Amino acid sequence: MMHANTVDEAKLNQFIGQMLGDLGGASSIAMVRIGDALGFYKTLHTKGPMTCEQLAKTAKVSERYLREWLSHQAASNYLAYDPKSATFALPPEQAIVFANEESPVYMMGGFDLMAALLDNQPKVQAAFKSGQGVAWGEQAGCMFCAVARFFRPGYQNNLVSAWLPALSGVVEKLEQGARVADVGCGHGWSTVLMAKAFPKSHFIGYDFHPDSVRDAMRHAKAHGVSENARFDVGLAKSFPGKDFDLVTCFDCLHDMGDPAGASAHIRKSLKQDGTWMIVEPMAGDHLEQNLNPVGRLYYAGSTMVCLPTSLSQEVGAALGAQAGEAKLREVITSGGFSRVRRAAETPFNMILEARP
Ligand SMILES: C[S@@+](CC[C@H](N)C(=O)[O-])C[C@H]1O[C@@H](n2cnc3c(N)ncnc32)[C@H](O)[C@@H]1O
Repeated sequence: MMHANTVDEAKLNQFIGQMLGDLGGASSIAMVRIGDALGFYKTLHTKGPMTCEQLAKTAKVSERYLREWLSHQAASNYLAYDPKSATFALPPEQAIVFANEESPVYMMGGFDLMAALLDNQPKVQAAFKSGQGVAWGEQAGCMFCAVARFFRPGYQNNLVSAWLPALSGVVEKLEQGARVADVGCGHGWSTVLMAKAFPKSHFIGYDFHPDSVRDAMRHAKAHGVSENARFDVGLAKSFPGKDFDLVTCFDCLHDMGDPAGASAHIRKSLKQDGTWMIVEPMAGDHLEQNLNPVGRLYYAGSTMVCLPTSLSQEVGAALGAQAGEAKLREVITSGGFSRVRRAAETPFNMILEARP
């Protein structure tokens, strides 16, 4: 107890309280994903409050396991428990977070992503020592699905209704019929949303990860936009195609090894009056501006996914997910863009508009 007399007991208690919350959150990752995979949230959402026996029967699972799971969920304020009827319910606020995939605050992707970060630990831990990267395609099992699921609600909620209209003259072009490249499209949810909203425009999604491109094609087909949304494997600094009215990059510029090279190539691929839309994680330019719950999540994602991805590619710029607008502007203007402005923002994203 060498330092006992230097410890402020009130601060210690407060910190232990924080740790209890943090460990509780971490312990929920597997529990919430089990509830998702076995359909517990959706069943409670559609069928209303149930006893453990009723839910076990409906979901066809072991009652003993389920009782432990339900108890954890009630202790976590994820489900409401009524001792009189011994029933568990999914309150409406929790339902839009856990059960409704179309809701703007659906967060199941966040839990998938946290599991992927843990899976990535051995590879990233080794990379701390070597300084090397870990290629996107070699990261945790379905980190790609987790990332896509994590970002999708934000795009669904903002892309067509707020972000595209914030760009000068872009919606008019899209309505009339424009050529658009969605670079680093991943599973293609952003491409699909835009293709659905603007049927006269033609969209091509490029990503260097072939499995993601295949998934993007499947999503386009499932959402009936295969006619005007295509996908192809391509690098941000060399994808084919010219004379685009709009190029978009959703949460991927900072993952690239050579974002400045990508910027120069995108500049050449655009029409003279074209627009490059860059969606990046929200961040201030200085560390002290990012010491908050959003920055906390992004720095973890950046360490476990974004830096390893960038460092595994040529140049290895490793901008990180919290690069901030000033650094991003530098990269964007280095490629030949002369005008850059922040067109829109949410607590999670900043939307930059770059013009030649
Ligand atoms: C965080 S994910 C975002 C995916 C998608 N835009 C979204 O918002 O869901 C980053 C994406 O960038 C892609 N990527 C990284 N470096 C790339 C590069 N140099 N060229 C093309 N794609 C790249 C990855 O394959 C991955 O799909």
